Amino acid sequence: MQKITVIGAGTMGNGIAHVFAQAGFSVAVVDASAASIERAQATIRKNLDRQVAKLTVTEADANQAYHNLSWHTSVDTVDAAQDLVVEAIIEQEEAKKALFSQLDKYFVATCILASNTSSISITRLAAATHRPDKVIGMHFMNPVPVMKLVEIIKGYSTSTHTTQTITEVCARLGKIAVASNDYPGFVANRILMPMINEAILALHEGVAGVDEIDEIMKLGMGHPMGPLQLADFIGLDICLNILNVMYSGLKQPRYGACPLLVNMVSAGKLGAKTVEGFYTWGANGKIDQVSPVFTNRRVGQVASLPA
Ligand code: CAA
Repeated sequence: MQKITVIGAGTMGNGIAHVFAQAGFSVAVVDASAASIERAQATIRKNLDRQVAKLTVTEADANQAYHNLSWHTSVDTVDAAQDLVVEAIIEQEEAKKALFSQLDKYFVATCILASNTSSISITRLAAATHRPDKVIGMHFMNPVPVMKLVEIIKGYSTSTHTTQTITEVCARLGKIAVASNDYPGFVANRILMPMINEAILALHEGVAGVDEIDEIMKLGMGHPMGPLQLADFIGLDICLNILNVMYSGLKQPRYGACPLLVNMVSAGKLGAKTVEGFYTWGANGKIDQVSPVFTNRRVGQVASLPA
């Protein structure tokens, strides 16, 4: 395993490219949008510079990592003899299936095709190819350079050899692979999204305010972010999309999205990426304050911690 291609240079794609390049892989990044490629280049450079400033990476290693990346606006300019392709495009099943069919025709028969999907069936993506044994889920967590987990999803036909190979690749990235079978939401989102949805329901029903719900979950459960902040961080459209996949795939009312979440997505209030969700977000990617829409829902006070 040495030659990797990442398809999609968005938030997840650029993080995935970053960790592969830093681990010494030769990484081709493909995105049809030149603007998206420019943003990814700037993000990776900024994150590498931050690591250099914190003395966790030497300047020479950061430069080498950046040098390991090549940038493409089309798959056609990538060498077909890749060892692994990781797809990280938009979460739409039809778009992913069409891409997997194209990747299957283009890349050598030995190449493993992985998807970073957060909930779409790996088995259905594999069925769009002639190599279902070499199709697997590699579900990275955001922010990719920081989070240790890669959730590995074994499709119905994914071979043990493919699963082992990808587990070893994750170890080379300094990540820990944990396997799940292929059912809607896998494990991570099967458990995370109902928690987020329940937090939104609690807000919707007036149980407590945004910062109250988040503080209770942060201080009481030791979560680094409260569920509403995390929903904003992930993107409310993505949360809704995952809940809808689980609702239609598992046929259980408990996965039905809270109407407030549906309304917010319809209004284009998607969280950090649109500057407003449950919170308003500053240009530095940090929370500014609770969105004015929700300030009247607070029950009481959130005391500040002693300094
Ligand atoms: N890229 C690279 N490094 C980053 C980063 C980024 N985007 N964001 C933060 N970091 C680094 C910082 O440089 C810092 O590094 P040091 O420890 O070396 O100083 C470290 O992460 C902590 O960052 P901050 O001090 O700025 O902020 P923080 O302590 O509040 O941590 C956080 C930020 C790591 C994001 C933390 O709040 C956290 O862990 N949040 C939960 C994230 C989470 O749950 N992710 C999973 C989401 S679900 C998902 O991705 C899957 C899905 O399908 C929906």
